[in-house]
Amino acid sequence: MSIQIPRGTQDILPGEVEIWQHIEATAKEVCRQYNYHEIRTPIFEHTDLFQRGVGDTTDIVQKEMYTFEDRGGRSITLRPEGTAAVVRSYVEKKLYGQANQPTKLFYQGPMFRYERPQAGRMRQFVQFGVEALGSADPAIDAEVLALVMSIYAKLGLKNVKLVINSLGDKESRQAHRQALVDHFKPSIAEFCSDCQERLEKNPLRILDCKKDREHPLMGTAPSILDYLNEESQSYFTQVKAYLDALDIPYVVDPTLVRGLDYYYHTAFEVMIDGEGFGAITTICGGGRYTGLVEDIGGPSTPGIGFAFSIERVIMALKAQKVPLPVSTELDCYVVSLGEKAKAKAVELLYQLRAAGISSDKDYLDKKMKAQLKAADRLNARYTAILGDDELEKGLIVVKQMESGEQEEVELESFIQYMKQHTQGGN
Ligand code: HAM
Repeated sequence: MSIQIPRGTQDILPGEVEIWQHIEATAKEVCRQYNYHEIRTPIFEHTDLFQRGVGDTTDIVQKEMYTFEDRGGRSITLRPEGTAAVVRSYVEKKLYGQANQPTKLFYQGPMFRYERPQAGRMRQFVQFGVEALGSADPAIDAEVLALVMSIYAKLGLKNVKLVINSLGDKESRQAHRQALVDHFKPSIAEFCSDCQERLEKNPLRILDCKKDREHPLMGTAPSILDYLNEESQSYFTQVKAYLDALDIPYVVDPTLVRGLDYYYHTAFEVMIDGEGFGAITTICGGGRYTGLVEDIGGPSTPGIGFAFSIERVIMALKAQKVPLPVSTELDCYVVSLGEKAKAKAVELLYQLRAAGISSDKDYLDKKMKAQLKAADRLNARYTAILGDDELEKGLIVVKQMESGEQEEVELESFIQYMKQHTQGGN
């Protein structure tokens, strides 16, 4: 039996890859405008990093990590997300000591989670994310939200809903935690075994449970917003005021808790409203984290960031029928007839490419008609036809495919001619 691709992964073939490149380029361009710079970290890290960073009680760490022992007996994990790794690098490379602060980074790359695959939920997926480290100014929260919303706007995505919440500071969360324990404890036997465990370890996680979503106590659970102390309330008010000032619409959802442990204060998700998008509507998640840098061994530093997967953005763009780039066209296809012309075509092709003109030729000894067909299929803007006869006269026939117009061009000035016509906007 032939070997097949592992479940939850995909090949991205030419034709589709242009869409990926388009999204990546758009996101990078917006990051450039916002002065965020790229960081690349390894695909695997020590398992400890995610246990400490993402949180021991999260689903990601408990159920979804690709963890293995390497040949040296170390426990290694394929990164399930980017934030912990970026923070590890920030601490290890002492980026906090650099002159320009806050440190504003973006990253892009494959992440791995052993989840049950479905549309928009992969075991290997590509996240694009940003992290701003070193500022506790609510204006940075607004900046990060503005950044992600600008990417979606630039991509032409519609019905994008920004949902925000505040998880408060340590004190507020502690008070809320106690209220949650008091709320769920008397009836905890009616909840799943995971939730029973979560009650003491991390009761906030109960609100995120997929199995017990419909339990009546979920709807009446104490809201974090009622437990925010003055400082946390003021922080949240300022973030909202900045969003209002920037005219960025948002909805406050006090039940939004996020699936990772490191968040304090602002937490958010971006959802897609509307039909045709299937069960998964969240395309982006993020928030502010306070203790993460310290947990990973660095100085106490606040941070905020988000990540979205390219897979989900593509799903959304396709569901909304947003026009997407197709295969890039070719500038010139060189058709040759006869042995001498064939040899000359190889040379011309080399020169065309050196002049910055995308070009190709036949390598399967196809007949002239089949070569012309290939030029058509490849969407070539021009076809250059060279026979032994023309070669002898020092000429080549250039056909503009769209108009069908063709003219004889002197071989000597052919490259110049093609440069003018393909790069001179003609
Ligand atoms: P997250 O909510 O776990 O947050 O993931 C963020 C985004 O990654 C999701 O909204 C979704 O677009 C995408 N995603 C997650 N899992 C999958 C999957 N199995 N298949 C396809 N796409 C997926 C984080 O990862 C945080 N590190 C975000 C963050 C950055 N917070 C602060 N800074």
